[in-house]
Amino acid sequence: MIGEITVGALLAFIQLLNHVVWPFSGLAQVWGTTQESLSACERIFRVLKEKRQFTSFPEALAAFQESNHISVDKVSFSYDEGNRKILNDISLEVKENQFVAIVGHNGSGKSTIFKLLLGFFPYSGMIKINNKNTNEMTYGELMQYFSFVSQDQYLFSGTVLENIRYGNLQATETEIKTLLKNLKFDDLINHLPNGLAIEVGEGGSGLSGGQRQKISIARAILRDAPIFLFDEATSALDYQSEEQIQEVLLNFKNERITLVIAHKASTIKQVDYIIVLDKGEIRAKGSHNELMNKDAYYRDLYKEYAAGETV
Ligand SMILES: Nc1ncnc2c1ncn2[C@@H]1O[C@H](COP(=O)(O)OP(=O)(O)O)[C@@H](O)[C@H]1O
Ligand SMILES: [Mg+2]
Repeated sequence: MIGEITVGALLAFIQLLNHVVWPFSGLAQVWGTTQESLSACERIFRVLKEKRQFTSFPEALAAFQESNHISVDKVSFSYDEGNRKILNDISLEVKENQFVAIVGHNGSGKSTIFKLLLGFFPYSGMIKINNKNTNEMTYGELMQYFSFVSQDQYLFSGTVLENIRYGNLQATETEIKTLLKNLKFDDLINHLPNGLAIEVGEGGSGLSGGQRQKISIARAILRDAPIFLFDEATSALDYQSEEQIQEVLLNFKNERITLVIAHKASTIKQVDYIIVLDKGEIRAKGSHNELMNKDAYYRDLYKEYAAGETV
């Protein structure tokens, strides 16, 4: 009969209608995801296209054969285009194999100096490594110079072993275990269930602050670059581990430049050269003994650090 439909046919019709409607509602979802992906791609491409004058990679390797040195010449910097100067007219030289500590109160601009060395932000003035302006290096070339432990460690999702191996993809598990033993970081192997094969989770959420620092330090040391940058790398570690790392770094002293941002009186006392930063300006430079003799600001700062340690 015309205009009538059986129950079965109606159900079949509804069922089939779903097949027609679904692609359209699905399309809306796909469209949303596509838009998100496109904007993510745009951000990635913006970084990749970031202007840097290209020079060839082998040149960077050749540079390693030279004795390494860093020169920072009249560098000024602001995070907000000149409104507030974070670094003001910074000039310093770091010579071959020198072990240097940058000290100063919180917010004086210590971490920012490292970020500029690493080419994270544009600045006025000039930074040279081995007489070459770092602004004329590609990121790849510039990064070849540095083993960096940042103040806030970043771990990738993957195992502890993989996270350390990012420092040197050629390193074997045995080499990494030996390094950890030398650093007396055995707890990374022994105390974690599964040893080095344990998943750290995005950002290292499954680990303690001290364990994250140890992984970052091991990664940097495994990388074995000509310049070490350690930004308060041992702040979450106990006294013994700190001493151990200090010893390891001092052992490297004759092979590379080491720059540390440190708050530890016993660390500072042992370095070759100290740069005292105050509100973005270099207040004094010299050895611990020189500074103790000539600079009241440093004397107070050192007393503060030393007092902090006995607590
Ligand atoms: N990404 C940023 N954007 C804006 N201001 C920043 C940023 N990072 C640091 N600063 C500011 O720059 C100053 C110096 O910071 P920083 O170099 O981290 O000091 P330090 O390492 O000596 O504690 C501080 O006043 C800080 O608030
Ligand atoms: Mg800092």
